[in-house]
Amino acid sequence: MGGLVAAALPMRSTASVGFDPASRVFRLDGEGVTYAFGIDSAGQVQSLHWGGPLALDDQLAPAPKPSDYSGFDRANSVTPLEFVAFGGGLVTEPSLKVAFPSGVRDLVLKYLDHTLTSEGITLRMKDISTEVYVELRYSMDKATGLLARSAVVDNRTKAWLRVDQMAAATLNLPFGEDYEVNYLTGRWAAEWTLQKRPLEAGATVLESRLGMTGSQNNPWLAIGRAGLTDEDNGPVWFGALAWSGAWRITVEKDIVGHPRITAGYNPFDFAYRLKPGERLETPVFYAGFSHDGMGGASRRMHRFQRSVILPGAPEPKLRPVLYNSWEATEFAVNEVGQIALAEKAATLGVERFVMDDGWFGKRNNDHAGLGDWTVNPEKFPNGLEALISRVRGLGMEFGLWVEPEMVNPDSQLYRAHPDWVINFKGRPRTEGRNQLVLNLARSDVRDYVLKSLDLLLRDNDIAFLKWDHNRSWSEPGWPERAPEDQQKLYVDYTKNLYWILAELRRRHPKLEIESCAGGGGRVDLGIMHLTDQVWPTDNTDPFDRLKMQDGFSHAYMPGVMMAWVTASPNWVNKRATSLEYRFLSAMQGCLGIGDNLNHWGQEDFATAKRLVAEYKSIRQTVQRGDLYRLISPQGGSERSATLTVSETKRQAVLFTFLHSSSTFDATPLIQLQGLDPQARYAVRSLVGAVEADTPKIASGSYWMHHGVRIPLRGDFQAAALVLDVV
Ligand code: DGJ
Repeated sequence: MGGLVAAALPMRSTASVGFDPASRVFRLDGEGVTYAFGIDSAGQVQSLHWGGPLALDDQLAPAPKPSDYSGFDRANSVTPLEFVAFGGGLVTEPSLKVAFPSGVRDLVLKYLDHTLTSEGITLRMKDISTEVYVELRYSMDKATGLLARSAVVDNRTKAWLRVDQMAAATLNLPFGEDYEVNYLTGRWAAEWTLQKRPLEAGATVLESRLGMTGSQNNPWLAIGRAGLTDEDNGPVWFGALAWSGAWRITVEKDIVGHPRITAGYNPFDFAYRLKPGERLETPVFYAGFSHDGMGGASRRMHRFQRSVILPGAPEPKLRPVLYNSWEATEFAVNEVGQIALAEKAATLGVERFVMDDGWFGKRNNDHAGLGDWTVNPEKFPNGLEALISRVRGLGMEFGLWVEPEMVNPDSQLYRAHPDWVINFKGRPRTEGRNQLVLNLARSDVRDYVLKSLDLLLRDNDIAFLKWDHNRSWSEPGWPERAPEDQQKLYVDYTKNLYWILAELRRRHPKLEIESCAGGGGRVDLGIMHLTDQVWPTDNTDPFDRLKMQDGFSHAYMPGVMMAWVTASPNWVNKRATSLEYRFLSAMQGCLGIGDNLNHWGQEDFATAKRLVAEYKSIRQTVQRGDLYRLISPQGGSERSATLTVSETKRQAVLFTFLHSSSTFDATPLIQLQGLDPQARYAVRSLVGAVEADTPKIASGSYWMHHGVRIPLRGDFQAAALVLDVV
């Protein structure tokens, strides 16, 4: 089970891996990146290079002899180490902190040995006086230069060892005074807010303490250099932690100015006691480098996700156009109503019909039913069969909403097993959305969840599960365990979640899954390995979405980002927008429709049918292509534009949006990027029109160096163009 957590995924093609015994320097070389580290004379493992590529015959000098800065700042706090334990006077962020039964909490790791294969490097370290071992694992994807790092601590002492803090890795950046950290923050219905702050002396902490990934911070960051790095140019060091539980990424600048990143389990409330012979593995931290600005960094990240991370990688399946019932019917689902919606959705070219919340147990609102995964007989007198066969008969796949990790106190499950929830004995059980969190770390709970879902999937022709998770943890106790083992919850819950997802996929190989947590609360590289798409936010306002989609795209690929066309005015902010505007905003990701189709007129159906067909003709490009953020919607910008260029460069799709126009606004020329300069591209408009004097066909160079003018006038206007090689 642990393998899913720590083993870096098999890379599509492995970077060159080397070790020079004379200098004791290790190297990994991928496309555009070299990562190197070495063993110094004190047996510590020092970072030597993380950045642009070195020539393969360049010799890196051995790691220098470490030295104290002063009596206050010992060598281990001012040396760029690859993995450093709390011990020997460390004052900076530890990669590992442990406690022995004796009360000793000092650990000093030294290089022991290593194994080098074509897959990567495993380096072993050992404490100076106890049988505590640490394995550092490295591998790199050749095509994207993405480095995977994780660690394992191995207790070979004769007594228990408590791990109080453990990171997958510490990564050191070259010395510099001008770093800026980009990261993502948010809250429910307002996720993916892009933030930037200078890296000053001290620490910047990004974290989740919630038992889930969280929307407050996402486990991704990108670090550029002020004045050098922008969207298109300059160095960017970036990374993301593949973990859907509580996590922490600390970016530090130590007292001598060394910048470093430490990423792993969140030490807040963490304790993991290992018996003799037991090991603890960390999730994987994926780290990359680009010389092409923030845009280059995200394109590498997107390519890596589709070629290594996603189910089906390197050829993950394209996302079908779906219909979802939530905003149309909320909990008031029933056979007749859902069939009526499905019939209408099918006429639009929808490929998958998804029934959301409300179909099971006594689920008429959010006060009851979670945990009872049997069909509500009043709403569905024929079980799900009648609805599913109608949906299938209409030529669509059927998908279903579930929230398997939760229970309402008003449910048969809770009445039978009140002890199955995360709680502290004798303390109140704080509810969120009237629900409690099942303790998935328990094997009986894990088995119940797997069995309920497995039965549903065996009895019904279900192609897709939307897996929701609508609250974060409170009272994180596990009363059935000894007090000193209760905090294992933080690791074992998420491991079991991963295990259930993997096992369901193994038993139902055609099943696809969406990760949703009341919106974008569980999007990370760990869950993305086991799910095919994600729901980025419950906010479906198409204008608000532009900024969120932009933030999202910095870390994750648009080819997993679901986006629905819903009602206008939107329920979130009462903003009214045209159907075309709503479509174009959603077509920047994976298109879905979530409006109540019973409220649509003929014209709406005609527009939607046309745009669904157009979407299918560009979906390969939008979902798999290289994204260029041409005009940012951030910072109150009136305009925005994105361009996606297909992997073959034979097609490009441009979306542009205007918030509002003033009297004599000029229409800017938008210069495209990433095209083949020699190829001739014909331009075609999906929505809106180009300036009358625009050539119908021109070279990639023309579109990139001269550009295209798209007049937009009015408020909430949008246009989309397709360029195809002729
Ligand atoms: C939160 C999700 O984000 C929504 O899309 C919807 O599925 C509701 N939960 C259902 O309760």
